[in-house]
Amino acid sequence: MATTDRSVPPILEVDSVVFGYGAETIIDNVSFDGRAGDFISIIGPSGCGKSTLLTLLDGMAQPLAGSVRVNGQRPLPGEPSRSMVFQNFALMPWKTVLDNVELGLRYRRKDLAKKERYDIAHEYLKKVGLDRSSKLYPRHLSGGMQQRVGLARAFAVQPQILLMDEPFGALDAQNAEILREDVRALVQEEQRTVVFVTHNLDEALQLSNRILLMTAGPGRIREAVTVDLPDEDSDDYPARYEAYRKQLWMHLRQEVNETRAREEEGPTR
Ligand SMILES: Nc1ncnc2c1ncn2[C@@H]1O[C@H](COP(=O)(O)OP(=O)(O)OP(=O)(O)O)[C@@H](O)[C@H]1O
Ligand SMILES: [Mg+2]
Repeated sequence: MATTDRSVPPILEVDSVVFGYGAETIIDNVSFDGRAGDFISIIGPSGCGKSTLLTLLDGMAQPLAGSVRVNGQRPLPGEPSRSMVFQNFALMPWKTVLDNVELGLRYRRKDLAKKERYDIAHEYLKKVGLDRSSKLYPRHLSGGMQQRVGLARAFAVQPQILLMDEPFGALDAQNAEILREDVRALVQEEQRTVVFVTHNLDEALQLSNRILLMTAGPGRIREAVTVDLPDEDSDDYPARYEAYRKQLWMHLRQEVNETRAREEEGPTR
């Protein structure tokens, strides 16, 4: 789906990143880069370090070795070049829908005056079809609607890089499908770089132009797959899709089995 100009320098550069807690290595020698238009999905077994990797990309933690660069610089927390979408929505329950979106702008877009922040928040709530719910509180909304607020909050920042951590993981299948369409529309509107963590192979295949499959911890990149599917209506789409799916599932299955075997062995720490 995404179109990426490979001749332009990458916005995001992840080079030989190592990260861990104490003696335990969580992420081991991970490298990839992202340009405008790239939609990069990260798939791997539970606990392999996917969420940890996103915090490194956002500058919330620093690699022990290797480097993360955004526009050639080390990322620092709160910068406007990135924003995050979380699985659990992470909305402030005491703030209205509108104020939640404005809060994201207040955190990341210190260049904007209050009126501008509210204007943009309204605009993005409209884009996700929630303009009439702006005065409601998160508890009044379904899970799908809450995550649309999460999307509005993240996209309103107009970041170069969107970091999404299993954004549809807590939603039922229909809501997840609708939200996938919302994300597709929001991403196609403006060229962004998306790093998208998911457990769902079909979601990754439908949204991405690149899929990074991680090993069971410590997380390394086992496979980097470039997804080049024809138009969904074309005759060879189903066979091509199935071939990608089979290839990815073979790798993922081995890593999930590895995680299960370790769990059966019991805790090692
Ligand atoms: N603050 C911490 N201190 C010590 N270990 C941690 C800490 N945070 C995470 N970990 C460990 O780091 C590893 C990777 O965690 P992470 O949450 O990044 O995995 P994940 O791939 O996102 O998993 P999931 O698919 O379940 O969301 C896990 O073994 C976890 O227990
Ligand atoms: Mg996680």
